[in-house]
Amino acid sequence: TEYTNILVEQRGRVGLVTLNRPEALNALDKATMDQLVAAVTAMDADPGVGAVVITGSSKAFAAGADIKEMASQGYMDMYAADWFRGWEDFTRLRIPVIAAVSGFALGGGCELAMMCDFIIAGDNAKFGQPEINLGVLPGMGGSQRLTRAVGKAKAMDMILTGRFIGAEEAERSGLVSRVVPAENVVEEALKAAEVIASKSKPVAMLAKEAVNAAFETGLAQGVLFERRIFHSLFASEDQKEGMAAFTEKRQPEFTHR
Ligand code: HXC
Repeated sequence: TEYTNILVEQRGRVGLVTLNRPEALNALDKATMDQLVAAVTAMDADPGVGAVVITGSSKAFAAGADIKEMASQGYMDMYAADWFRGWEDFTRLRIPVIAAVSGFALGGGCELAMMCDFIIAGDNAKFGQPEINLGVLPGMGGSQRLTRAVGKAKAMDMILTGRFIGAEEAERSGLVSRVVPAENVVEEALKAAEVIASKSKPVAMLAKEAVNAAFETGLAQGVLFERRIFHSLFASEDQKEGMAAFTEKRQPEFTHR
């Protein structure tokens, strides 16, 4: 496939997708959304890829949805195209996805980072939902995912004022899992992805599903969902291998079966 707005690489069992529209600070236009979803969907289906890292440039992970593409649209244009619908496909990916954020992650850029399974931030990262300054509000899930990630007080503060938060505040608030020196952010995310990709892929996918169930179900239902998945893994080769390796004091060799 020919990608014009992203760079796609594979390093061992890790897929790396780099948003590449430097002239627009990686603003997420429709072409970028379609290409990103296509690239990661292919990795999701590829048994040779066990985890994905999505990153941008050192200045911007992504400065938002593409304001210039949206500016002249009318209601019926937005509705008929079901603008941003494609991002739902991204959230249905089963493969673990890490966002490596350096610089601006604003609007749709922050929302894309939050659609990933976790965020590793450079110490120069700036997160914000500044849509209110444009006369709109978050449209790719920000009002829901930011609130679940950081709670009502900070989500309201950010979405109503449009103010940006830095990496340290983002970590303190639970938006990001780690802060690292900006120049190391891709390397650190690749290392984390490599660790994940060394596990059993189906088990990692099921673990992602189980954690995500916490956002969709009540506690008892979620715990039951987890336990049933746990039971089901005793039908896998990788459970036999993982537990045998522990007993034999060696590293497991997972076959992803
Ligand atoms: C289209 C964008 C863009 C965006 C930046 N650019 N953000 N183009 N959509 N979201 C373009 C600029 O127009 C400019 O192009 C080039 O990228 C460089 O940006 P500058 O503004 O010159 O850079 P700088 O002065 O360093 O400022 C960086 C910035 C600023 C603070 C991040 O670019 C900014 O505020 N961007 C918009 C942030 C935002 O509001 N995001 C939310 C978008 S709405 P030219 O051609 O002029 O050089 C959204 C949610 C969707 O994402 C929900 C519905 C709206």
